[in-house]
Amino acid sequence: MDLIEAMRSQPANRFYKPDPVPTEVFHRAVDNARFGPQGGNRQPVRFLIVTDPAKKAQLAEWYMIPWSAYYEQASSEEAVALTAESGDEKATKAVMSKSSVVAANTFAENLANHPAIIVACADLAETHPTDTDLDRLSIVGGASVYPVVQNLCLALRNEGVATTLTTLLCLFEPQVKELLGIPDELATAAHIVAGYPEKPFPTKLTRHPVEEIAFMDSFDNPLTA
Ligand SMILES: Cc1cc2nc3c(=O)[nH]c(=O)nc-3n(C[C@H](O)[C@H](O)[C@H](O)COP(=O)(O)O)c2cc1C
Repeated sequence: MDLIEAMRSQPANRFYKPDPVPTEVFHRAVDNARFGPQGGNRQPVRFLIVTDPAKKAQLAEWYMIPWSAYYEQASSEEAVALTAESGDEKATKAVMSKSSVVAANTFAENLANHPAIIVACADLAETHPTDTDLDRLSIVGGASVYPVVQNLCLALRNEGVATTLTTLLCLFEPQVKELLGIPDELATAAHIVAGYPEKPFPTKLTRHPVEEIAFMDSFDNPLTA
C-alpha cells in the first residue's frame, strides 16, 4: 500500500475481528520492521507474539488494574468538560458513549479476546542512551526501540492488520516476564495488540497541524507550506 496513506491511517484500533492473524503475516511484518534504525546498529529489539488464550487472559487481568484507575479519572474529567461545554448531562452521556476513552475501555475489557498481543522487548544493554547524565528523564534509549516498533505496526497495516500500541502493562514487567519466560536481560517496552479490524481503517486521525509542531531555524518561525 501507499506509504503516506499507511502513515496517515494507522489509529490505535479498538475493535478487532476474532480471526487469527496467520503466522506468515507476522513473519513478513517482522522481516520488514527489522530494518528500522537503532543506535550503533546493536539491534536490541525482540518480539514475542502471544496468541495463547490463557496467557492473554492473564495479561488482560493485569492490564485492567492500571487501566481501571486511568479510565475512572479520564472518563470523569471528560464528562465534566463536556457538561461544562453543553450544560446538559443527557447530551454529555450521548457524546461520551462515542468517545475515544469509552472505546479504549471496551478495548481493555476485551483484551483477552483480541487475536494477538505482541510484547516488544529490548535488551537495554544494547541501547545507546546519550542523555543519562542530564537532570531529567532519559528518553534516548527508546530511540533504539520504538522506530522498529512503529515499523512493525506499519508493516502489519500493509497486510491489513490493525494494531494498538499500549504501555500500561509495562508496570507488570516482572510478572509478564515470568509468565512468558522472557529472558532476564530483556525489558518490556510495549504490548501491541494486533488483529484484523472490525471496521475499515479511518482516513483521518486527530493530530496537531504542522505549524504547531515544526519550525524553521527558530521556534517563533512555524514551518508553513
Ligand atoms: C507510548 C504510547 C503508549 C500508549 N499506551 C496505551 C495504553 O496503555 N492503552 C491504550 O489503550 N492506548 C495506549 N496508547 C494509544 C494512544 O492512546 C493512541 O495512540 C492515541 O490516543 C491516538 O489515538 P489514534 O491514533 O487512534 O488517534 C499508547 C500510545 C503510545 C504512543
